[in-house]
Amino acid sequence: MSTAAAKQADFEGLDYQFSDRDFQMIADQANKRYGLSLQPSKKPLVYSRLAKRLRALQLKSFEEYCALLQRPDGAAEHGQFLSALTTNVTHFFRELHHFEFLKETIAPKLIEKSKMGQSVRLWSSACSSGQEAYCMAAALIAASPDVCNLDIKVLATDLDPQVVHAAKQALFPKDQLKAIPPSWRQILIAQRTTDEGQIAINDKVRKMVSFGELNLIADWPMRRKFDVIFCRNAAIYFDKGTQARLWERFADVLTDDGYLMIGHSERLSGPAMSQFSSVGITSYQKNKMPGRQSNKKPEGDRT
Ligand SMILES: C[S@@+](CC[C@H](N)C(=O)[O-])C[C@H]1O[C@@H](n2cnc3c(N)ncnc32)[C@H](O)[C@@H]1O
Repeated sequence: MSTAAAKQADFEGLDYQFSDRDFQMIADQANKRYGLSLQPSKKPLVYSRLAKRLRALQLKSFEEYCALLQRPDGAAEHGQFLSALTTNVTHFFRELHHFEFLKETIAPKLIEKSKMGQSVRLWSSACSSGQEAYCMAAALIAASPDVCNLDIKVLATDLDPQVVHAAKQALFPKDQLKAIPPSWRQILIAQRTTDEGQIAINDKVRKMVSFGELNLIADWPMRRKFDVIFCRNAAIYFDKGTQARLWERFADVLTDDGYLMIGHSERLSGPAMSQFSSVGITSYQKNKMPGRQSNKKPEGDRT
C-alpha cells in the first residue's frame, strides 16, 4: 500500500469521511478567517476535534460543515471552529522572565511617563482566559502600588468569545494557585475564595484590565498607541506571511520605544526585524526612528 493510501485508510471506519480534499477545505477556511496554518500532519487532530462539532450539529459530512461556516446562519459556529483548531492553554506567570522584566525595567519608565501626564497603554493581544493580562497588571503594581491612581491600563483581547467571557469573571480554579510564585500571590490574588473554592483576582489588579474580542488578522479599531504588547504563543499557529505582517503591524501601533514580548518558540521575521532590537529572551524594543512622528495613527485605525 502506498503511503497516501495507508494514510487515507486511517480515516476509514470512522464516523465521517475525511478525505484530503475535506482537510484542505478546512485548512483554507482556517487560513482565510484566522491566518492559521494547518499542515497535513495535523489531519488526525483536525478530524478528532471537528468530528465532535459535526456530531453536536447533527451534520453528515465535512462538506456540510464548511458550507455552514460560509452561510450567515453559521456565524455562531465560527468561535467553536476556532476553539477546536487552536489551544487556549495558558497559566499565571507563564514565561516568568517577561513579568520580571516588565516590573524591573519597563514599569519604572512607564510610571514616570504617566506621572508627566501621559497615558500608558499595554496590550495582551491573545489573552486566552486572562491570566497573562492580570499578571501584567500585577507586575505594574509590584513596581509601584500607586499605578492604580495613574492613567495606566491593560487591554486584553482574544478572538475566542468563550475565553474572553471567562477572563472577565476574574475567577480561576484553585489548582492554578500553584503556578503563582509565592512572592506574587499577595498582589494578584484576593484573600477570599468563592463558595465554589475558586481563587479571585484582587480588585486593584482587575480594575486595571479591560477585555474584548479581537481577531489579530482583521482590522484593529484601537485609537492609541501601545507602550507594551504581549503576543505570546498565538502567532505560532499562523503561516509565515501572516506572522511577518503581524510583527509589522505591532511595530506600527507601538510607541517609538515600545516593547514587544513574544512566545518562547516564536521568532520575529520579515521587514519588522529591522525595526526592533532584542532586549532579553523573546523580548524586543522598537528602535527609535530619526524624524519619525510619534503620534502617527496606527494602520487600520477606524476611530
Ligand atoms: C495558547 S493561547 C496563548 C495565551 C497566552 N498568550 C499565553 O501565552 O499563555 C493562544 C490564544 O491565541 C488565540 N488566537 C488564535 N488565533 C487568534 C487570532 N487570529 N486573533 C486573536 N487571537 C487568536 C486563541 O484563541 C488562544 O486563546
